[in-house]
Amino acid sequence: MRICYVVAMVAEAKPFIERYGLKEVEAFFAPLPCRLYEGEVNGSILDVVLNGQQNGSDLVGCEAASVATLSAIQKLSPDLIINSGTCGAFKGNGASIAEVYIGNGVMFHDRRVPGDDTWGTQSLGNYAVWEGSEEMAKSLGYKTGKVTTGSSLDMQPCDLEVIQKHGGQLKDMEGAAVGFVCSLLHVPILYVKSVTDLCDSGAETFEEFSKNLHQACETLREANERVINYLTTF
Ligand code: ADE
Repeated sequence: MRICYVVAMVAEAKPFIERYGLKEVEAFFAPLPCRLYEGEVNGSILDVVLNGQQNGSDLVGCEAASVATLSAIQKLSPDLIINSGTCGAFKGNGASIAEVYIGNGVMFHDRRVPGDDTWGTQSLGNYAVWEGSEEMAKSLGYKTGKVTTGSSLDMQPCDLEVIQKHGGQLKDMEGAAVGFVCSLLHVPILYVKSVTDLCDSGAETFEEFSKNLHQACETLREANERVINYLTTF
């Protein structure tokens, strides 16, 4: 089995790159900015693809995630893509800081195009997730929730309207882009997300995100160890 993570931020990936002693394969995606770390766990190949950086900061967002996912699938032919990272969530849904969720659906929340059965529907995405996601979450004791993706860290009232209408619970900036590419190339996708901020807390999002990033990345590493163990000893 070949498992490939697609991760946006170094801070999110570093704890489990170090845990598994994954080695960087230098310039694997050159001239693209994405970076590959590779190793072996329980007889399976474990790849971690980072979106990469520009001007010294991690490339977050849908464009970089699409490029990384497409390149990863074309060059590595993984059996499963895992998009893992941090997200916002809602205390009104019972979420708390550094809590880990498994995605049970994925869509965009900031693509406002009319047409219920044409571009409007296509723009929302709503891609399938790996069919074993719910069972794995249950077995490992994680909550599940729908990932909704947009291009901004903040949340405008029109974003919230879409999120609420479609039962979104986890707000990120990459998930649906990764899901879109996986849907095109028929590769199953699993989401493992850890909460850095509560979108309905009233706090300033970037401040809350920054304050909780380290803690959320630790619970993310712990969850990913359990996920990898589950998948490789299946
Ligand atoms: N990543 C972490 N928190 C986020 C939020 N509130 N919105 C989008 N992406 C995030």
